[in-house]
Amino acid sequence: MSHNTFGHLFRVTTWGESHGPALGCVIDGCPPGIRFTLSEIQAWLDKRKPGQSRFVTQRREDDLVRVLSGVMADEDGETFITTGTPISMMIENTDQRSKDYSEIAKRYRPGHADYTYDVKYGIRDYRGGGRSSARETAARVAAGGIARKVVPGLTVRAALVQIGKHRINRDNWDWSVVGTNPFFAPDPAIVPVWEEYLDGIRKAGSSVGAVVEVVAEGVPAGIGAPIYAKLDQDIAANLMSINAVKGVEIGNGFEAAAITGEENADEMRIGPDGKPVFLSNHAGGILGGIATGQPVVARFAIKPTSSILSERRSIDSDGNEVDVRTKGRHDPCVGIRAVPIGEAMVACAIADHYLRDRGQTGRLK
Ligand SMILES: Cc1cc2nc3c(=O)[nH]c(=O)nc-3n(C[C@H](O)[C@H](O)[C@H](O)COP(=O)(O)O)c2cc1C
Repeated sequence: MSHNTFGHLFRVTTWGESHGPALGCVIDGCPPGIRFTLSEIQAWLDKRKPGQSRFVTQRREDDLVRVLSGVMADEDGETFITTGTPISMMIENTDQRSKDYSEIAKRYRPGHADYTYDVKYGIRDYRGGGRSSARETAARVAAGGIARKVVPGLTVRAALVQIGKHRINRDNWDWSVVGTNPFFAPDPAIVPVWEEYLDGIRKAGSSVGAVVEVVAEGVPAGIGAPIYAKLDQDIAANLMSINAVKGVEIGNGFEAAAITGEENADEMRIGPDGKPVFLSNHAGGILGGIATGQPVVARFAIKPTSSILSERRSIDSDGNEVDVRTKGRHDPCVGIRAVPIGEAMVACAIADHYLRDRGQTGRLK
């Protein structure tokens, strides 16, 4: 299977699947001299790991990350310093239950990758979905932890802004509450609404979709490129590569189609320090594929988990028409755990563009 690598200069390859002994990533192209601790990387993985509330899958994985290469330990014994050689990170799989999947060994779950996997490869690891299992995204989150360190002053945060038809009130947006509720919600008022709604979905063995918003601050103005390597293009590609993502918007996205040029224009003035100031940010921090220096804003839509308890019509690999019902432990709304994954994929795109810009212009931004 090819295509397990993304990025150009900050180049990430992931390997492994949910029912092997471990999975991980190799980052090639990370500059030397970047300092990080294992607990910093682990903190991002802890945000993504399963079993943290009743609203996510009850699989139990500790997702403890190990760094196998590409670093030297500093004298404090805690800090790693990158050496510029490939950084390999590994996460062991500890909670596999292959029998959960025996009923779908031949049956194609509607909405999952089972059918297309068989069509393409002719062989399918039905125990958890092989490379189409979102367990692979743990490795991306680890890579994102390093990517965040590559760009000085970069902050990448994400929040869940919609579950099913229930949206947050943006006037209530408060980043400080995102880490204090099981949904990564930025609006405290939506939490009880989502709790009640998702409890109903969960108890019915059903599932529902969601929208995640990612905001990157401290993105240096000038990184990106005007056509085939637009920063927004690469962010969209990275987000679209996440399992179950069906739509990506940058800035005001599809809303831009419904407003006038006057309304959409991000007007400019000179600030008190003599530097340019934008009076709005409909563009999501990117113009002509190049960062403006404003926050980069992206949203992505996640479909409902396809593994549901109610029977859906399908076929099996022997050509029979069957009804499929997926037992086992599944996320009723995968959008929740997609929040740190979205952050990681945006961080990787920005780190890659930062290094590409430095390579081309020779300037530190
Ligand atoms: C964090 C996360 C967890 C997921 N867990 C499940 C799951 O438990 N069951 C399931 O059917 N799909 C799950 N998915 C979605 C599938 O991996 C995805 O729908 C499938 O690979 C088909 O790919 P596609 O939806 O991108 O077309 C999850 C996705 C994410 C992002």
